[in-house]
Amino acid sequence: MEKIPAHIAIIMDGNGRWAEAQGKERYEGHIEGVASVKACIKAARKSGVRYLTLYAFSTENWGRPQAEVDALMQLFCQSVTKETPELVEQGVRVRFIGRRDRFSEEVRERLLHIERSTAEGDKLTLVLAFDYSSRDELVRATRSVAEKVERGELKAEQIDDKLISAHLDTADMPDPDLVIRTSGECRLSNFMLWQASYAEMYFPQIMWPDFREEAFAKALAVYAERNRRYGLL
Ligand code: FPP
Repeated sequence: MEKIPAHIAIIMDGNGRWAEAQGKERYEGHIEGVASVKACIKAARKSGVRYLTLYAFSTENWGRPQAEVDALMQLFCQSVTKETPELVEQGVRVRFIGRRDRFSEEVRERLLHIERSTAEGDKLTLVLAFDYSSRDELVRATRSVAEKVERGELKAEQIDDKLISAHLDTADMPDPDLVIRTSGECRLSNFMLWQASYAEMYFPQIMWPDFREEAFAKALAVYAERNRRYGLL
């Protein structure tokens, strides 16, 4: 039987380059990228992947020109809201990881609403990393552990890797088995640094707007060929 990763995490890269290569505005690359998001959700669900994490907006993305930040926020909120009924129908539960404190009240409410309305989904968990970065997540987790030590709820010697995992945004999720970054860039860019410790990495030479069913199937085939040893022989 083919090995199917339980958790795939994707850095969706190359929207801007895809658009520029076609003489289009960067924004149009992001719009085309939403179609790839939908295609991958369907493909993941169909192939039995249980968790699909998508890096939608990094803590560093706030530094892009304001017009692009606004466009991305709007596109993200609109697409997820529009797709919510279909996600419910498909049995997809949506979870957000990352900070929430820098969003407007309206965006925060919308995220909560999407999480609540999809909470019963049991086919696939779609994890959207939104204002997320791994170092930020680790800093927040470390503070929360330190506060427990300060309050006397925890002893320093009780801190181990399980305890740290339990304080991350991904606390009750399995670690990713496969991390994909499109566009040919070979870096993690502050994404799931802790959780990806034993993940297989795959860097296809394809821009995110072109990453559809066929590319997803290819990624599964590449993963099935890998031999994971977890530091053993
Ligand atoms: C990277 O391309 C992509 C992003 C920063 C945003 C990804 C967002 C979407 C696909 C839309 C919304 C997502 C969901 C889940 C509904 P880039 O702009 O860095 O491309 P470049 O490296 O070619 O400039």
